Amino acid sequence: MQNIMDIDTVALNGHEDAVRIIDQTKLPVEIDLKDLRYAREMYDAIYLLEVRGAPAIGVFAALSMYVLSIGRDIDANVELPVGMEPGDMPPDAPEEFHQWFHKTADYLNSSRPTAVNLSWALKHMQDLVDAHPDADRKTLLPMLHDLAIAIRDEDIEVCRRIGEYGVTLIKDGDGLLTHCNAGKLATVRYGTATAPMYLAKERGMNIRVYCDETRPLLQGARLTAFELLSSGLDTTLLCDNMSGSAMRAGFINAIFVGCDRVAANGDTANKIGTSVVAAVAKQYGIPMYICAPTSTIDMNTKTGDDIVIEQRKAEEVTEMWYEKRMAPRDVKVYNPAFDVTDHDLIAGIVTEYGIARAPYEESFQEIFKKKAENPIR
Ligand code: MRU
Repeated sequence: MQNIMDIDTVALNGHEDAVRIIDQTKLPVEIDLKDLRYAREMYDAIYLLEVRGAPAIGVFAALSMYVLSIGRDIDANVELPVGMEPGDMPPDAPEEFHQWFHKTADYLNSSRPTAVNLSWALKHMQDLVDAHPDADRKTLLPMLHDLAIAIRDEDIEVCRRIGEYGVTLIKDGDGLLTHCNAGKLATVRYGTATAPMYLAKERGMNIRVYCDETRPLLQGARLTAFELLSSGLDTTLLCDNMSGSAMRAGFINAIFVGCDRVAANGDTANKIGTSVVAAVAKQYGIPMYICAPTSTIDMNTKTGDDIVIEQRKAEEVTEMWYEKRMAPRDVKVYNPAFDVTDHDLIAGIVTEYGIARAPYEESFQEIFKKKAENPIR
């Protein structure tokens, strides 16, 4: 049986003509690798959470733009393959290709609004095309390939470094809590919030990890519990409303979560329920750390109030996971996918260039200075 820890979450397939993902909607029952080639199926893969987690969807979008730019030699008289739409065929000539590239990137970018990594990665790909206005599709292809791979490799290195900084916050014997999945399934390889945990284990520390199930889409129960167990960590699953009890009982020494967008003042948007965990942690004096690559810090967003929060379908709350619909038919449903944790509830933001602490405006400047002096890519 394949171990999930040995498979990259997002990659190009062997022929490098499709993006290969682990279909996360099938986990933990089945490890299904899926090859995607068409814009519509790539959009759906993000919206339906087949690929999810802020860094992973950024890498996925970069690889997708490369794969879509390859195009396919399909006879005009032949019916289009399932999932393909006429707009999927990229034109060759520079001006037309550039227009097509931006339109396709905008389309992928519209799949989910909150995680800034999606637009961050797409913007890098678009900037490359813009920097070569006279280049046609075939000239740009190898450059797009190399940039997409570099964005993917960067994610691996960034998470490894977040692990190195994060592990300094863990002591032997600690109980750690996490919410949602900011693990390897949300990145290419190590995860952000889980990277320090994997390193702690590698270094022989004895730690216990508690994961919230994460209503309504159960990323904690289906994904985090699965990957932590697959990596051999001592793992305990909690319903979301049990973490206060675990904190009060003294089981939890620190909390590590990921995030989808960090505002310039240190407010962070992460999976719905994160802010509740943060508020309770403050009550019990437990430090809450946000693990975030610098690609998740959005200095153009001033505070958490400016972050667009994705609203999702009511059925995710009323029907999904139940054999029969469990809520009254006409009840109104509030289903935001993310919430904002105010910066004063956060003990530190762990990045690949060090741990930022309040006041965040200042420490982010320091972090970005280090990044400019010593870029990974
Ligand atoms: O809706 P999801 O599953 O994409 O939400 C994911 C999260 O909220 C993660 O915590 C976040 O993207 C950080 S992943 C390193």
